[in-house]
Amino acid sequence: MMNTTHLETLNFHQVQLNEDAVIKPFESEDEDLNDFLLHDAKNYLQSLLAVTYLLQTEDETIAYYCLSNDRITRDDKTKSAWNRLNRAVANEKRRKSYPAIKIGRLAVSKKYARLGLGKTIIDTVIEMYTAVRQQAGCRFITVDAYHNATHFYEKNDFKYLTDKDEHDETRAMYLDLKAYLTVND
Ligand SMILES: CC(C)(COP(=O)(O)OP(=O)(O)OC[C@H]1O[C@@H](n2cnc3c(N)ncnc32)[C@H](O)[C@@H]1OP(=O)(O)O)[C@@H](O)C(=O)NCCC(=O)NCCS
Repeated sequence: MMNTTHLETLNFHQVQLNEDAVIKPFESEDEDLNDFLLHDAKNYLQSLLAVTYLLQTEDETIAYYCLSNDRITRDDKTKSAWNRLNRAVANEKRRKSYPAIKIGRLAVSKKYARLGLGKTIIDTVIEMYTAVRQQAGCRFITVDAYHNATHFYEKNDFKYLTDKDEHDETRAMYLDLKAYLTVND
């Protein structure tokens, strides 16, 4: 079904999930991700494992995503992929692992698919880690992308970390935040 809504006319805002929040109805095409939001997101928050962000209109949740600290290490990476990632880092600062922020889960409501909400979320995460002074170093965004979503991440500037996971359920991908840095002090 063709979606006739435009992102510009959609009245929504982002909130960070807290323990008392009432989660408004949400239905993406992925049952596990729907279930996580309703039944696990608050547990992950209480266990300090993931923070969930909700995009909401007055009466529904139109998208959500989770963030957790992460790191990228050289182990298990294809040499060429590691070299490409490493080359972007200044020589004297190269190391065997780099700090990262992981998008643990990301889902957009079926009703609002392909309007640019997924891209808006990626842009928001980039901005969180580049437009304001960081409280701890973080060079990359990482994601374990479902196969059906790899094209979406590619379009948003993510690269593959390895080709060893080509036949796995998910593919490890990353985005280098350095290219988006707008605050340098
Ligand atoms: C992947 C997902 C988050 C994209 O969100 P979205 O708001 O629809 O994406 P955007 O509108 O920002 O981007 C659209 C572009 O992404 C790509 N894309 C989005 N969904 C896609 C899908 N299901 N299959 C293939 N490409 C897809 C397309 O290139 C599309 O551009 P096009 O419409 O011009 O072809 C959304 O489809 C979703 O929630 N899927 C189910 C859950 C999921 O797979 N999450 C990823 C977990 S790793």
